[in-house]
Amino acid sequence: MKLCMIGTGYVGLVSGVCFSDLGNDVICVDKDINKINNLKKGIIPIYEPGLEELVLKNFKNKRLNFSTNLKDSVRKSDIIFICVGTPTKKNSNSADLSQLYAAGNEISKSINKFKIIINKSTVPVTTGDELEKVISKKVNKKYFSVVSNPEFLREGEAIRDFIYPDRIVVGSNESKSHRIIKNLYSPLISKGAKFISTQRRAAELIKYASNAFLATKISFINEIANLCEKTEIDVEDISIGIGLDKRIGSRFLRAGPSYGGSCFPKDTKALVSTAQKFKTNLSIIKSVIKSNNKRSDLLSKRVNFILKNKIKNKIVSFLGVTFKANTDDMRDSSSLKLIPFLSKKGAIIKYYDPTGSKKEFKKLKNVKFSNSIQESIKGSDIVIIHTEWNDFKSINFKKFSKNKKLIIYDMRNIYSPGKIKKLGFKYFGIGR
Ligand code: UDX
Repeated sequence: MKLCMIGTGYVGLVSGVCFSDLGNDVICVDKDINKINNLKKGIIPIYEPGLEELVLKNFKNKRLNFSTNLKDSVRKSDIIFICVGTPTKKNSNSADLSQLYAAGNEISKSINKFKIIINKSTVPVTTGDELEKVISKKVNKKYFSVVSNPEFLREGEAIRDFIYPDRIVVGSNESKSHRIIKNLYSPLISKGAKFISTQRRAAELIKYASNAFLATKISFINEIANLCEKTEIDVEDISIGIGLDKRIGSRFLRAGPSYGGSCFPKDTKALVSTAQKFKTNLSIIKSVIKSNNKRSDLLSKRVNFILKNKIKNKIVSFLGVTFKANTDDMRDSSSLKLIPFLSKKGAIIKYYDPTGSKKEFKKLKNVKFSNSIQESIKGSDIVIIHTEWNDFKSINFKKFSKNKKLIIYDMRNIYSPGKIKKLGFKYFGIGR
């Protein structure tokens, strides 16, 4: 099939590349000419394991192309995916849909035969209806169909999540579109992916409800971890103990810093805001947002407690600053609160991240990027493990630090407390 992806951000690029790898002809469109020129040279704008190889392979075999010409790309395609950003509006909790409607408007100028227009961007319920209205200003409804097909790709695991999805959700009010899209996804369905057909509005809500539920699960275990810290229980035992109940499930039950990234914080807020529009109070999700917002303060206080209220001049090795491992994404990372807190209190911070230094910390006092784990740990009083990259999972602390009083604050519970204590170091984790 001939596909066009509008927006070569995370979702558009990964989905476009994977669809081309499944044998479709794909044009990835973006307004950003530098991005498009770079992609043509094989320079990938984001860090995502496996993505570069797939781009090079499919660009070379000509199934994948990149363009800034939306009009031409839409004309050449049967199915158009809208994959633009829907960030939180300034001074509001609702989603900013301006890029989506702008894309709809552009598409409407280029429809030359029947097209399926699939929205992959995360949007509030009823956005599909609005998008249909935007396009129908210029095009008769019999020449297009607006469909919702939300993505469930995790950063760092996006290619795998695309190829082996738990489910593919397609929301359309017409059976013809369901059939065509089912055919598009048939290589994944034949490998076991479940295909779910719903009304368009239901698909839109499935996406928000999924993210809100996962955010709830994480906040739940984080609060249980707070109780574990007071009662000398290891939260890891609780996660295993409750996760084995199939009704609960063991995934997304890892206690840690506040959840971050491009989706959970934004989508939980947007869902509450959408519900308000429909006069519905989502009190559970409101509590989750509140609990997550408070979490970084709580962890900052714990660092203060661990360092016995003496943060000034302490040398802090901070390992991993992105919102989680296997990504270079800093959006809503708890390090954006923790590092400024430590800097303000007078600590000297040497941070290391496998994806390099970050502009967000450039102006902070006494915050420097280290070129390696070893360089970061050397001479430090405390090591804070903030993300769970494999690189951080078997650090030889004895070799890297001569400090006999070294403290390790393992915010991802990577290490066994007993083993670290045996080395003679002080260990603190989350909920243990
Ligand atoms: C998420 C959804 O998982 C994905 O389906 C959606 O489409 C996009 O948003 P992503 O933001 O890439 O994906 O990250 P995810 O792996 O879900 O983690 C989100 C946050 O939760 C991170 O801050 C992570 O550290 C945290 N998390 C996750 C936990 O603290 N504990 C867990 O057990 C799992």
